[in-house]
Amino acid sequence: MNDTFLKACKGEQTEYTPVWFMRQAGRYLPEYQKVRGKVSFLELCKSPELCTEVTLQPIDIFGFDAAILFSDILIPMEAMNLKLEFHEGAGPVFPNPIRNKDDVNKLHVPDPEESMPFVLETIRLLRKELNVPLIGFSGAPFTLATYLIEGGSSKVFLKTKRMMFQDPTLYSSLLDKITDCTSKYLRAQAKAGAQALQIFDSWAGILAPVDYLRFALPYVQRIIADLREVTDVPIIYFANNGATLLPHTTTAGADVLGLDWRINIKDAIAGVGNHAVQGNLDPIALFLPQKELEKRIATLLDDAKDAKGHIFNLGHGIQPQTPPDQARIAVDAVHRLSGKP
Ligand code: CP3
Repeated sequence: MNDTFLKACKGEQTEYTPVWFMRQAGRYLPEYQKVRGKVSFLELCKSPELCTEVTLQPIDIFGFDAAILFSDILIPMEAMNLKLEFHEGAGPVFPNPIRNKDDVNKLHVPDPEESMPFVLETIRLLRKELNVPLIGFSGAPFTLATYLIEGGSSKVFLKTKRMMFQDPTLYSSLLDKITDCTSKYLRAQAKAGAQALQIFDSWAGILAPVDYLRFALPYVQRIIADLREVTDVPIIYFANNGATLLPHTTTAGADVLGLDWRINIKDAIAGVGNHAVQGNLDPIALFLPQKELEKRIATLLDDAKDAKGHIFNLGHGIQPQTPPDQARIAVDAVHRLSGKP
């Protein structure tokens, strides 16, 4: 197996810089579109055979150094007893959002083997097929909570922040349940064979540091501490838009910190202490002309040369409009410029 990615996560010397992209399996690939043309997104997420197929697509096409399980961070929220819909173009919708104590009481903390067997089966199938490491993942409790409280995506997160500020007891009872669910879910993924785990905190950057410290970080710390009791797989924590939160995200307990593109990776490395880093090309930089894209990648690799470990990635998910050829140019450039034989 090509274990370059795992070595970089642990801060060990690697022959070259490993690369994978967030959302590497997805709509920018005609091969994915073809599968998606036959089933809904939720049907896709619940079919281990189709999830395996779309997870493998970008590995076979571009030669990424790690695969990420195809699923969605909201799958375990449905397993908690919440109705979840994906509307074309509008993203995820929870038609019955969490508003009060009764709503929280109705949530149950699922046994992953019982309520999400398809995810664990996908992991087992993938481990038989892959020759690069498999990353499992979850959302971070705060990010998951925003979807449950807002009823879907949001811009200003009024309902979430109002609950934090006006009813912190209700908020923490919700977050406790999401945290328990997520701990069990990630433990189950590691047990099924996931070789690294990434926690996506996509909305962490909308919080003031003081609120991040009270309403988001402790739950991530709890999950990671709980995982450390049962597994030593590398843990990646990605707090999107989190440059100003770095002094705090470094205390989450992760091995690797994911970085978005709003911070220069050199400045981030100076502030992350003993962590490896993952990132951080602007996903839309993939639209640059080839020469400029390659120059930017060269600079990024050079800026990251003093990292304890560097995993090349985008600063957030690849955009659906990205020409696949541009992804190929980027992956090849990372490999060539970092010395892959
Ligand atoms: O390749 C991979 O990265 C693995 C698969 C993956 C998906 N979602 C598939 C997906 C992963 C890791 C996720 C994580 C996820 N899901 C996050 C965290 C990462 C981030 O982007 O910040 C979030 C916030 C979600 C919730 C979610 N799922 C939203 C907001 C949307 C709609 C927006 C969009 O991109 O369409 C989804 C749908 C979704 N998840 C798609 C895919 C491939 C598109 C569904 C389709 O095929 O129509």
